[in-house]
Amino acid sequence: MSTPNNSLPQHVAIIMDGNGRWAKKQGFLTRVRGHESGVEALRRTATAAAEIGIRYLTVYAFSSENWARPKLEVDALMSILVNALHKELSTLQENRIKLHAIGRLQDLPAVCQRQLNEVIEATATNNRMTLTLALSYGSREELVDAFQHVAREAASGRLRPEDLDAKTVERFLYTTDMPDPDLVIRTSGEQRISNFLLWQISYAELFFTPVLWPDFDRPHLEEALAAYAGRERRKGLTSEQVAPNVA
Ligand code: IPE
Ligand code: IPE
Ligand code: MG
Repeated sequence: MSTPNNSLPQHVAIIMDGNGRWAKKQGFLTRVRGHESGVEALRRTATAAAEIGIRYLTVYAFSSENWARPKLEVDALMSILVNALHKELSTLQENRIKLHAIGRLQDLPAVCQRQLNEVIEATATNNRMTLTLALSYGSREELVDAFQHVAREAASGRLRPEDLDAKTVERFLYTTDMPDPDLVIRTSGEQRISNFLLWQISYAELFFTPVLWPDFDRPHLEEALAAYAGRERRKGLTSEQVAPNVA
């Protein structure tokens, strides 16, 4: 018998997938229409998550691998990002959401970096929920960056190799200062991780839904949270250790 954890995840991470298929299904001639509707889904989801009491919401918005998509689509995604940051500042402020970003942000067009920094600064004191955009993000790239950092520390004598432990590695990840995700949701029916937060989701619960990202809304989030609450998180222990008082 497993005992449900009955709790709300502190940190939810979402792989927002299925925009292209959604656009095709709607009969639109361009995948870009799916990305535009994806922004609306993110607004609804972030607002709902903040209201529900989620403290951290991290969303995969653009992967390292996505740079290899047709230039027209990459350019459209960057301009959608700039517009959304501009347009959604009021949503973030109204909901007291702090914006944060992870990834190789230096590879984003200058105008995106500027707009991103502006909104990050403007929302820096908001404390209801932190919304982290993973942009130009790849987990292997993040780990490579961390390993380079560790190697430099070791070469300079500031770190002894035998002192390297998991906590030290975490200090060099983009997600330092954030708790690990408790729950990962992926939309669109795909059941893979696609280079997202590999280190951080070691013990996350996974939830896959066939819903395409532009259709995602509060009830779908609630469904994922209910599934999460029903899971027993053993983290290597036995059921008896996790819930000693349950017969
Ligand atoms: C997710 O939707 C958004 C990004 C990866 C930027 P997709 O664009 O991957 O949509 P599908 O998977 O092709 O339907
Ligand atoms: C993952 O979706 C990346 C984002 C949601 C930003 P993809 O559509 O790029 O992933 P694959 O190619 O299906 O693995
Ligand atoms: Mg996809």
